[in-house]
Amino acid sequence: MNQPVMGGVAALLNVPAYIKQQKLINWVAEIAALTKPERIYWCDGSQEEYDRLCAEMVAAGTMKKLNQALRPNSYLACSDPTDVARVEDRTFICSNTKEEAGPTNNWMAPPDMRATLSPLFDGCMAGRTMYVVPFSMGPLGSPIAHIGVELSDSPYVAVNMRIMTRMGKAVYDVLGSDGEFVPCVHTVGAPLAAGQKDVAWPCNATKYIVHFPETREIWSYGSGYGGNALLGKKCFALRIASNMGHQAAQVDGKGWLAEHMLILGVESPEGKKHYVAAAFPSACGKTNFAMLIPPATFDGWKVTTIGDDIAWIKPGADGRLYAINPEAGYFGVAPGTNTRTNSNCMASLGSDTIFTNVALTDEGDIWWEGLTKEAPSHLIDWQGKDWTPASGTKAAHPNARFTVAATQNPVIDPAWDDPAGVPISAFIFGGRRSTTVPLVTEARNWVEGVYMAATMGSETTAAAAGQMGVVRRDPFAMLPFMGYNMSDYFQHWLNMGEKLGQLNAAALPKIYCVNWFRTDDQGHFVWPGFGDNMRVLKWMLERIEGTAGGIENIFGTTPRFGDLKWDGIPFSPEEFETITSIDKDAWREELKLHDELFAKLAYHLPTELTAVKAELEKRLAR
Ligand code: GTP
Ligand code: SPV
Ligand code: MN
Repeated sequence: MNQPVMGGVAALLNVPAYIKQQKLINWVAEIAALTKPERIYWCDGSQEEYDRLCAEMVAAGTMKKLNQALRPNSYLACSDPTDVARVEDRTFICSNTKEEAGPTNNWMAPPDMRATLSPLFDGCMAGRTMYVVPFSMGPLGSPIAHIGVELSDSPYVAVNMRIMTRMGKAVYDVLGSDGEFVPCVHTVGAPLAAGQKDVAWPCNATKYIVHFPETREIWSYGSGYGGNALLGKKCFALRIASNMGHQAAQVDGKGWLAEHMLILGVESPEGKKHYVAAAFPSACGKTNFAMLIPPATFDGWKVTTIGDDIAWIKPGADGRLYAINPEAGYFGVAPGTNTRTNSNCMASLGSDTIFTNVALTDEGDIWWEGLTKEAPSHLIDWQGKDWTPASGTKAAHPNARFTVAATQNPVIDPAWDDPAGVPISAFIFGGRRSTTVPLVTEARNWVEGVYMAATMGSETTAAAAGQMGVVRRDPFAMLPFMGYNMSDYFQHWLNMGEKLGQLNAAALPKIYCVNWFRTDDQGHFVWPGFGDNMRVLKWMLERIEGTAGGIENIFGTTPRFGDLKWDGIPFSPEEFETITSIDKDAWREELKLHDELFAKLAYHLPTELTAVKAELEKRLAR
């Protein structure tokens, strides 16, 4: 570094010889000059480095090592109670114009946002180590993968990124001397004065999660938790990547899709295999569905996982859509997970897992609500306090999570790492709705499917800070993750369907809308869910193959009781009726909410969608 401003930084830099890109080195120096860390550490992604950083965090009180016999090489981290979930109201898409960000995103003009952030980042890493975390979203070197480098003052972020992405030295080989990377700057926003003692989970009451789509930059301030801090996930793989996929359409006429979707493989007893991708909002069942264990009576059916949260989907020359999982690990919801609801997930968590905000047992293992029917008689809760079943509080935070490598999943699909991706036969969209929305509906065509996805509603969950359980529109389960104008995104989906239809109409994925969450008068879920979702999945596959029946109703095609396989559960036609019936009054109210959404999204709203709505209204009036 020969620029004078970098003078102090040059001594810290100590760039490893294997890094060949001057642009990257200059950027690291520039950010170090701004944030003024005490040290710079270049992560190599090795196991030795992971173990050492974890040991340092144990010594610092950020993590506890769990009982080595019960839960080998696993840790518990407990966050500050004010830093437990994504902060949607502090998330910004700073495109050049407000229209490009659209009405569903917070926006500030880039120069104004830069002026806001610059004093916050000035000296924000004082007294801390700045970790340089190189990562690939997607298989290393694959033509569909993209590279990012996250500069973070959180060792918790560094170790989580090693599990969640392909992180380490090999990334620099792909990057070479002039490869592109998305620069991601992250700070917990808690500089240490000389001699000041650190806290277990540093963070700041002020938070900013900022994206500059034009320059493809991410800046995150004040939080160490999940999607706020692990910048490869929502910030890069959804908000920035959705922009990349949209812009790519201007180059090749099609572009690609970055979606909040799980991808699973499902094989019939006859050996016929399909892949489907499903978008459910946060904490609405993606991880569970991706690892589904079919009921015992579904002899020979196999479900395997490609991904549990994010899909990058590109059209192939054959006119089919091919999907990859850009991630390498799962950052999944812990509460509610147990051997009955998801034993594949429990098996994944047997060792080498980081748990965040779960409770600690007296044996040094973990516990959360729903893990066992009966709670242990004593625990240390996620806030470090003694807890008993009489405490009347939650032992684990409702958004407590585990971080685990995808390779620990016993039902990982053999193609999960295939750079070519897997062909998608169906898209499924589903929200958490206690009323109104039936168990499953098949769209009559692509445009109607896009309408269903665009108007989807769901009750809010603990995955985001704010009020829980209120129904909001969550188009494509992407509301918190859209990197550009939502209406332009709808148009992008419509264009994609049209282009694929021209190439290979027969292979166009079918689109379904599901709801596992309808309740009875007592508020209990009527549908058993989890493994029994296989019954619905099987119907979809048979629809794709053209072998299953159904009837057309107002909104699309739905199965009759006899169209699903019921072996192994006592589920009556009356119960089926309670979760599939269409209450016309409720739907009239629902369509008013679609109106509200469309009014909000009026700028660039595709006319095809308003036409679908007019059709539905006509049918509803009959
Ligand atoms: P994010 O990681 O936040 O994007 O969420 P996700 O969609 O992967 O959510 P996950 O699969 O972790 O599920 C979250 C919660 O939904 C857990 O508490 C589950 O127990 C519950 N859940 C999942 N599948 C079902 C289901 O089929 N029926 C019911 N009733 N609950 C379910
Ligand atoms: C979600 O909220 O949808 C998640 C968790 O998958 S986080 O990574 O925190 O965004
Ligand atoms: Mn998610």
